[in-house]
Amino acid sequence: MSKRILLTAALPYSNSPVHIGHLVEHFGADFWARFQRMQGNECHFLCADDTHGTPVMLAAREKGISPEDHVNQVWKLHTQDFADCQIEYSHYSSTNSQENKELCEYFYHQMKEKGHIHIKSIDQLYCEHDKMFLPDRFVKGTCPKCGANDQYGDNCDKCGATYNPSDMKSPYCSICRNAPVTKQSDHILFKLNDFKSYLEAWLPQHTAKEVSNKMLEWFKEDLRDWDISRDEPYFGFKVPGYKDKYFYVWVDAPMGYISTTVQFCKKTGLNFDDFWKSDKTEVYHFVGKDVARFHTLFWPALLKTAGFRTPNQVFVHGHLTVNGEKMSKSKGTQIQARTYLNHLDPAYLRYYFACKLSSGLDDFDFSTDDFIQRVNSDLIGKITNLASRGAQMLSSKLDGKMSSPDTEGRKLIQHAQSKAKEIADHYQAWDFAKAINEIRALADEANRYFDEKAPWKTLATDPAGTKAVLTTTLNIYRLLAIFLKPVLPKYVEQVEKLLNEKPYAWSDSQKILENHSIQPYQHLANRIDPEKVKAMMEESKPAASSTPAPIAAKPALQESTTGEIEIEAFTKVDLRIAKIIEAEEVKEADKLLKLKVDLGPLGTRQIFAGIKSAYKADQLIGRLTVVVANLKPRKMKFGMSEGMVLAAGEGGSSLFILSPDAGAQPGDKVK
Ligand code: 2FM
Ligand code: ZN
Repeated sequence: MSKRILLTAALPYSNSPVHIGHLVEHFGADFWARFQRMQGNECHFLCADDTHGTPVMLAAREKGISPEDHVNQVWKLHTQDFADCQIEYSHYSSTNSQENKELCEYFYHQMKEKGHIHIKSIDQLYCEHDKMFLPDRFVKGTCPKCGANDQYGDNCDKCGATYNPSDMKSPYCSICRNAPVTKQSDHILFKLNDFKSYLEAWLPQHTAKEVSNKMLEWFKEDLRDWDISRDEPYFGFKVPGYKDKYFYVWVDAPMGYISTTVQFCKKTGLNFDDFWKSDKTEVYHFVGKDVARFHTLFWPALLKTAGFRTPNQVFVHGHLTVNGEKMSKSKGTQIQARTYLNHLDPAYLRYYFACKLSSGLDDFDFSTDDFIQRVNSDLIGKITNLASRGAQMLSSKLDGKMSSPDTEGRKLIQHAQSKAKEIADHYQAWDFAKAINEIRALADEANRYFDEKAPWKTLATDPAGTKAVLTTTLNIYRLLAIFLKPVLPKYVEQVEKLLNEKPYAWSDSQKILENHSIQPYQHLANRIDPEKVKAMMEESKPAASSTPAPIAAKPALQESTTGEIEIEAFTKVDLRIAKIIEAEEVKEADKLLKLKVDLGPLGTRQIFAGIKSAYKADQLIGRLTVVVANLKPRKMKFGMSEGMVLAAGEGGSSLFILSPDAGAQPGDKVK
């Protein structure tokens, strides 16, 4: 009987572009969903952007646009990237939706009503300059354990210690580098420990052993309360009854799975309760091991609180490394989906990740050499070659019509058919790597058969025998295509066309094509040109003077671990004397003045400067000052800003723009 399945991949954050780390997971889920559909199951694959939190708020601020505009822009980029990678969601939404807001509020009322909430005043670091409480990742300082500098507020990269930001030595705000103060604020805590025995029983039934054992390590002691609120400024949903508190992003993120289902049901007319209120649907989440704890502790506890069903299974995968290293933007190993697509066909990466993905938690590597080798020698050399040699000969040298396989050929085909169940079991168990191994072994056998029979030699003397060999070869190739279809949907569409057939279901593997006409052979796929891989890696490297990816939150300063820079780094900054020729207030922004400056031979520029708290517009007209003249122009909400005015001081009224001595001229270089 056909099953109804709801599948999700983790919701990507709106503060970074899609990269190949996301693709591993979204490819995996896409393979699985397509496999389920080929089995005749009704599988709905849902996802959304995870839009809230401090990094998103700051990324928007950095661009000078509203967070809503920012997340809408990112949504367009994300969905385009995923579509171009041939990932097909049944619906792709956003956590910044009315449906999601209502769900958060409903869940919160349920938590309160059922007594799982309490309020506690918490000491937290606060930046007086940025007027905000600093989340752990926004505090940096010296590790209290090993003394390493520039560590994040929650754990040390050098010695692995975990701690509270308030334990750090010399903490500073990572946005403005000022020292934070400690301030108290009421936080809303969810009493996770109320669910201790429920979760203890739930975990082994709904996650792999490796995962539940890991999670159960926390259960030796009481489970700690979970802080579900954040103070303003924050981009998210307000907690009902408070004017300055928001739900922590990790509350409304998984809620996005449900709100996306609400929208999907509105769109399709399906009944929502069948998905989240009953076990008529099988529900699966596919996530990375870094977020397993949110999905296997907090999430089932929230669902239980609100009377929703919990997932059948949370599948957890390991992390991707690139050429043996942890992915890192600064090392150029965090390859963006768009960068990949600029150079290479997504089918190659889908195939390669399928070769690597298994059901365990182990990390796996995207090795560029291995990638080229596997695609060129297996997908092209072994698999596609069967079609190009077999189908070309049948169409161009014979009449383009298959005959019947001989006894030996039939045996070979039946052997391949008998693997359908085993390969399906591997797909079902998320062991894509094992499925591909089996498929590759079948391709090896078919190539051995083809080479042994050498049909190109018998063509003239024994056309009937040759046809039988080609019929066998193409039947096996067809089976490989059916087995590969979840991974290579577009590629297999071409095979369906070539062999004159309807879209394949898994059960089509039990049929043998005989006396069947095929279409003239059209080229199916190219080998990877290693130069293109090189160019992709090159494009992923941060340019020496580059700013980070435009939609990412940017640290205030780029620096070495010691804080020193080379003289070359300084000389890259083009400082010039500028004459302010126009100045006006930007009404809608409390910090900005819009300036027009004269840079002598460099012409005039428009600059938005955050100095309104210290200067009146007309005070500035005619004045000389210093600006950065080679800053990449930035599009702000109110227009382009084409430079930066230098100023000293703490901010507020304590802000002083620089002035040269008499004699300096507009456009003079500051050295
Ligand atoms: O780790 C992440 O990228 C998160 N945005 C995943 C969220 S998954 C879900 F709970 F929304
Ligand atoms: Zn600050």
